[in-house]
Amino acid sequence: MPVHTSPIRCGIIGTGAIAHAHAHALTGLHGRAELAAVAEIDPDRAAAFTGRFPVPAVYGDAAAMLEKERLDLVHVCTPPQTHVPLAIAAMRAGVPVLVEKPTALSLAEMDELADVQAATGTPVLTVFQHRYGPAAVRLRRLAAAGALGRPLVATCETLWYRDDAYFDVPWRGRWEVEGGGPTMGHGIHQFDLLLSILGPWAEITALAGRLSRPTNTEDVSMALDRFKNGAMATVVNSVVSPREASRLRFDFEHATVELEHLYGYRDADWRFTPAPGHEDLADRWNAADQTDEESGHRLQIAAVVDALAAGTEPGVTLAEARRTMEFAAATYAAAFQGRPVAAGEITGSHPFARSMDGGAAPWAPIKGKTTA
Ligand SMILES: NC(=O)c1ccc[n+]([C@@H]2O[C@H](COP(=O)([O-])OP(=O)(O)OC[C@H]3O[C@@H](n4cnc5c(N)ncnc54)[C@H](O)[C@@H]3O)[C@@H](O)[C@H]2O)c1
Repeated sequence: MPVHTSPIRCGIIGTGAIAHAHAHALTGLHGRAELAAVAEIDPDRAAAFTGRFPVPAVYGDAAAMLEKERLDLVHVCTPPQTHVPLAIAAMRAGVPVLVEKPTALSLAEMDELADVQAATGTPVLTVFQHRYGPAAVRLRRLAAAGALGRPLVATCETLWYRDDAYFDVPWRGRWEVEGGGPTMGHGIHQFDLLLSILGPWAEITALAGRLSRPTNTEDVSMALDRFKNGAMATVVNSVVSPREASRLRFDFEHATVELEHLYGYRDADWRFTPAPGHEDLADRWNAADQTDEESGHRLQIAAVVDALAAGTEPGVTLAEARRTMEFAAATYAAAFQGRPVAAGEITGSHPFARSMDGGAAPWAPIKGKTTA
């Protein structure tokens, strides 16, 4: 990969809600990156965006932007069903891509991305910004070094609240557009962080239900997971929980590490409790790199820009994102087939490789939400 001495030239595709977080992050990089162009199909959205973030070039079409601009990085900030075709167009144009979550709608689409990535040698990355908060980085480092002992038990809860009106937006709540409900769209950040710390998972048992909301997807899912290292975890994803909370808890042999936040955490949101006889670990947890920065887009985008500039591997890589997407697919497959699903089982022509619902969601679709 080339080493850059000038600012990384970035383009954004889709200038809706989350594009503002990307542009804000780029603005904060002070010369390490520049927002060179945007592509947006809705002129009103483009105007609202450029009113806040001045951009030298605005395109109505991503292909034109990729052809005319010499970009070093393109951010895909469009609704989920457009991610794969846009990412493939960018890779074919030789531009590394940072795609908003979920990377794709299915494991089959993830494999299509992997083929194009291998053929072009251009990486496709996924936004999982919560991996990049300083406390998560520290926990990964301590866990990987074995300092906390073996991981034994974990809980991962994304208990959010989205009212019925949230599902009025035409692309929401449809398998074929979003890929799923809170498993794919909301809780995915937290179980991605869980997986980044506990490593490969081995087996999942799950339930999923549409309990309350006017959606074709689930509005609640729950999974029981066994990891390859023997640890066991529960993962709950909900959009029907009035007192919202995002929680993670890890019980290692030598310490409990807990996080409670909502949409982004700071160091103060974590709690570290050493096991008896391991009190010295608290000093290692509290010592280094304490900052007050929230685990938002800025930290991941800064890391991606710096890796591209240095010619090192940026994250979150497609292989890592695939493991998280496979976890989502296995949650749906286990829930809808009523049996445990093993890692590596959902491949090829498996119905849950082709779509997250596997064509097997056990509730009737809502009229008007059945086609893309
Ligand atoms: N990482 C996070 O924490 C986070 C938070 C919110 C949303 N997201 C993700 O970001 C993505 C976008 O969500 P949003 O809430 O910003 O949606 P949004 O509807 O507010 O914005 C999407 C924009 O993309 C534009 N668009 C659609 N197709 C296009 C195309 N082919 N070319 C150019 N522009 C196109 C739309 O006109 C719209 O302006 C989704 O995948 C969502 O899951 C991530």
